[in-house]
Amino acid sequence: MTTPFYITTPIYYVNAKPHLGHTYTTIAADVARRFYMLLEQDTFFLTGTDEHGDKIVKAAEGKNQDPSSYANQISQLFRDLWPKYNISYDRFIRTTDPDHIAVVEKILQQIYDSGDIYFSEYEGLYCYGCERFYNRRELVEGKCPDHGTEPELIKESNYFFRMSRYQDWLIQHLTDHPEMIQPERYRNEVLSFLREPLEDLCISRPKTRLTWGITLPFDPDYVTYVWFDALINYISALGYPEGEDFKKFWPQARHIVAKDILKPHGIYWPIMLKAAGIDAYKHLYVHGYWNVDESKMSKSLGNVIDPYYLQETYGTDAIRFFLMRDMTFGLDANFSEETLIQRINSDLANDLGNLFSRVLGMFHKYFKGVVPEVDAVMQAKVGPELSVPAQTAINAYQSEMEVFHFHKATVAVWEYISCMNKFVDTAAPWELAKRPDEKQRLEAVIYNLLEGLRVIAGLLYPMMPDTARTMLSHLGFDMETNEYLPIGAIKQWPALASGAKLPKAISLFPRIEVKK
Ligand code: ME8
Ligand code: MG
Repeated sequence: MTTPFYITTPIYYVNAKPHLGHTYTTIAADVARRFYMLLEQDTFFLTGTDEHGDKIVKAAEGKNQDPSSYANQISQLFRDLWPKYNISYDRFIRTTDPDHIAVVEKILQQIYDSGDIYFSEYEGLYCYGCERFYNRRELVEGKCPDHGTEPELIKESNYFFRMSRYQDWLIQHLTDHPEMIQPERYRNEVLSFLREPLEDLCISRPKTRLTWGITLPFDPDYVTYVWFDALINYISALGYPEGEDFKKFWPQARHIVAKDILKPHGIYWPIMLKAAGIDAYKHLYVHGYWNVDESKMSKSLGNVIDPYYLQETYGTDAIRFFLMRDMTFGLDANFSEETLIQRINSDLANDLGNLFSRVLGMFHKYFKGVVPEVDAVMQAKVGPELSVPAQTAINAYQSEMEVFHFHKATVAVWEYISCMNKFVDTAAPWELAKRPDEKQRLEAVIYNLLEGLRVIAGLLYPMMPDTARTMLSHLGFDMETNEYLPIGAIKQWPALASGAKLPKAISLFPRIEVKK
């Protein structure tokens, strides 16, 4: 049996509609999941919405709605967006789902019974945007580092989770599992938080101040702090504790998040799991921000890029490709429509699109669309010129994808595309076609170019599923029954059956003319 693969995105707040930042993370998770499909692993992909807490109540009030119907409406926007980007998840969880609520109650009760939750009075600086208390040294010039607003001084009695008790355990766990938080800079960031004493976490809100949340099972006057509720989605979605999916997928859990929520994922969550007697997740992959004009794209700043507009204007695969190609996983990237158009024109229309139509065009011209039979001696001579670099590309692609270096995996494919384009130029099939004595070479050249396209299409599937399917169906694969080529089939060379009749090429990516 192959190893299962479990991938999650953050569950997004329903205080505003989805923007390009959410779209990036969710596409990245979909790309990773489809890559593991190529590896023929059993996969589970979870996304959803985070619906409780102050933030949502305030947003709903702003629209003169009650939190519940407001949450329904915004949650639906996320759910409607993902199919447009060909994102196919196994479950869309909402923190208002009854099965999720039951698991949150269960875990709270369990941790309460084991003595890691206590009641105490507290006074602290509270940021409504982050829905958490800050201590002074975390603030930047007295303001929340994320929202740039001054936190409010709040004094109240609350329940606290004894995180401090697990500080040494977490340091040891991160030391024993150096690959748990990636890229390394974020692991270091978590370790440096942990050099300071860890404070206990306030996990309740009195109902006098907030009612939109999960009631504490051991005190009806309080609701659960939204992060304590939200993080549990990663296991409630799998049917913790008895669900088959939980048993199968949880040991392989990988979370993708951006650096804004490193602390809850790198510190609170592993400690919550430990306190509840559940194994830690396997990996946390942390990416940077999409910025617009050098500042973070965010709802609070109001500089968001609309993913509906982008999809309608440029198409699903072009955007999926661009987002994976232009962000170095872990670092910030700047979004601009000019760069997007340049990328589409150079990498998609020019490098990939031209190669595809050129090769298929020549194939139809010289062989009337019938895959030629290649002489074995000639195949041994010509084949390696494209099959050897193909193996190199596949290996590089595979090892980069395994560590979520989507940008590097993409570059590996484009290096091969460039190698194919150069081969067309040097092999010059149009010259060979003029000489009857070069007929065998012409057959081998075109045949192996088709093979190269097959490899490219195979590798592009996770990133650009529609494009991959179009390419593969033009190479004679039955894409009605097969979504993709498994990695073993991609690696095989030669694979195309001679004698097969193939359809004429279509244009994959038209160039975008920029209006001056
Ligand atoms: O934090 N660039 O939800 P959220 C890249 N509900 N990614 C971005 C981004 C940007 N400019 N802006 C947002 C929450 N994101 C909690 C999570 S999980 C148990 C609870 C993406 O709606 C990125 O994935 O604020 C980031 O971590 C997430 O949206 C935050 O979404
Ligand atoms: Mg946020």
